[in-house]
Amino acid sequence: MDERLILGIESSCDETAAAVYSSQRGIISSELFSQIALHKQYGGVVPEIASRSHLEKITPITHQALEKASCKLADISAIAVTYTPGLPGSLLVGLNFAKALAYTAQKSFIGVNHLEGHIFSACIEHKIPFPFLCITASGGHTALYLVQDFGVYSLIGHTLDDAAGEAFDKISKLIGLGYPGGPIIETYAQQAGFVDFFKYPRPLAQSLDFSFSGLKTAILYDLIKRGAYDTKLKEFTKHNDRTLQEQISSSLLVAITDVFKQKINLALKQHPETAAVAFVGGVACNKFIKSKLQELCTEHNLLFFSPSAHYCTDNAAMIAFVGNYKAQQGLFDSLNLDIR
Ligand code: KG4
Ligand code: ZN
Repeated sequence: MDERLILGIESSCDETAAAVYSSQRGIISSELFSQIALHKQYGGVVPEIASRSHLEKITPITHQALEKASCKLADISAIAVTYTPGLPGSLLVGLNFAKALAYTAQKSFIGVNHLEGHIFSACIEHKIPFPFLCITASGGHTALYLVQDFGVYSLIGHTLDDAAGEAFDKISKLIGLGYPGGPIIETYAQQAGFVDFFKYPRPLAQSLDFSFSGLKTAILYDLIKRGAYDTKLKEFTKHNDRTLQEQISSSLLVAITDVFKQKINLALKQHPETAAVAFVGGVACNKFIKSKLQELCTEHNLLFFSPSAHYCTDNAAMIAFVGNYKAQQGLFDSLNLDIR
């Protein structure tokens, strides 16, 4: 069978990315420009800055991906691009760029849902048995899926408010640590030995849905009680109390890990046919959470999978991967496709 090459493009939030997937060799290039440094000073992603930066980087990053894959646009069979969900201005840059390429180079065109990309990012490096349970946790999304096959999956739980990564980011900001919060909280938590000092709430224990906004409120009230927050100035006052910052980080990480464990336990009860568990998205970079979920799966006699860190955070390899099975299934889109 002829080799099929898919060019994947991703620009839904603060990463400009392009990758090439080969139906015979797997991912052969995955290039990325991360905007973290541009947004850091604001403590979060600024949409206007994000779309301007995508516009600057999308052409060189795409060239780089083709070059690293040692191929030319002419060798590509189809162009796959994220069209939903994400920041509208950012999505528009990637989508319109991909449409222009597809039109001028006369290539097949495939729109990919960013969340489907995250779900199947677990399959880039591993052969996972179906059906598997997938926890997707990033800065923008937290959801639980039952995955039946390539492109066939159902949402069985989602966050009712903040995403897990958002909780790490907001609480990191609240206690005077940097952005993005997840990796910093993990480092601080490790220094406190991953002990659950403050027993923050684990809401919705009987549901597959998540809620993380209450954690920030609980932490805020706890800080006020400890005299560590000035309610008039709306400011954390213990910037020099590293021990307190470490204890909060540790308690927060253990609480979020417990929530994930609870959801997996409940989902396994409701879906005993589950053959494996996958953990994906930016939060899946967290080694502590991964080790606890691995332990839980071992207890249940289930396989556990999580992608390498560069496929957990936003990337185009996952978009090209989904593009490949959609091309195989004949699922192409017209150039009228719009962002959603
Ligand atoms: O998937 P991603 O790159 O972008 C979105 O689609 O949102 O995820 C970024 C999120 C941020 O909220 C960041 O704090 C979180 O992933 N994150 C982590 C870790 N590394 C990144 N959260 C917990 N522990 C980490 N080590
Ligand atoms: Zn994402």
